[in-house]
Amino acid sequence: MIDLNFKYKDLLNYFKEIIPFQPELAIILGSGLGEFAKSVNTKKTFSTSEIPGYPLSTIEGHAGKIHFSEYEGKKLLLFQGRIHLYEGYKIYECILPVFIAYKMRCKKILITNAAGSVNLNFHPGDLMLINSFNGINIKKELTSLIGLAGVEEKNRMLNFPSLSFNKKIKAAALEEKIKLKEGVYWYTKGPSYETPAEIKMTRLCGGDAAGMSTVHEAVFSSYLGMETSAISCITNYGTGISKTKLSHADVTETANLVKEKFERLVKRIINSI
Ligand code: HPA
Repeated sequence: MIDLNFKYKDLLNYFKEIIPFQPELAIILGSGLGEFAKSVNTKKTFSTSEIPGYPLSTIEGHAGKIHFSEYEGKKLLLFQGRIHLYEGYKIYECILPVFIAYKMRCKKILITNAAGSVNLNFHPGDLMLINSFNGINIKKELTSLIGLAGVEEKNRMLNFPSLSFNKKIKAAALEEKIKLKEGVYWYTKGPSYETPAEIKMTRLCGGDAAGMSTVHEAVFSSYLGMETSAISCITNYGTGISKTKLSHADVTETANLVKEKFERLVKRIINSI
């Protein structure tokens, strides 16, 4: 188990004096969804490259920026870009956005991601509210992060997704007349997209969408007692479902196409909290 307060002491000190406010809601913006940050009133932006100890983002579509923003009076902490295991980072680096939000006493977090469809009724452009996940591929890393948690902490880990937050998200989608799918997010470790056989197995085992993020962030934020929900943007058919070969460029392109829908939904969610 790693002492995050010690590991990130310079980073925490750096933020101490300069953050403009205590955020009410943190949002991690997934691949291609970072543009959302431009649609709200931003008070202060940090490049993660200037933050001591912050891992460098190595992926296209992940800007590596942290914004303190406001929308309709609500105080937001936006992470434009995240850190993945497949970039070669350690689990205690991948959960850094959650840890920062927690240290800023933020009580709620919305995690978003780009994901491939597994459920044959899901299509690129759909938004899916995560109602459960399969994190079997990342248990070892989670254990190294959290270690021997007490009973209370263990119970808190089961609080994902927050049912009350999910209820608000569903209501927000209804108000915006956005068809929100619901399903199981299946964590895959990468480094490449899945094989057709892996997607087929995932479907047989009950997965609806596959992606390489979110689960560790959601487990960790729930463990810390933060109210946590997550939304996937289905950016592509899972490997083998369609004949087209998958690329990261396609993923960000589709995410861009749903930008307007995503923005409306997230703004309505912010309104409702
Ligand atoms: N698989 C895994 N991660 C992803 C995918 C996918 O098909 N699309 C976007 N992120």
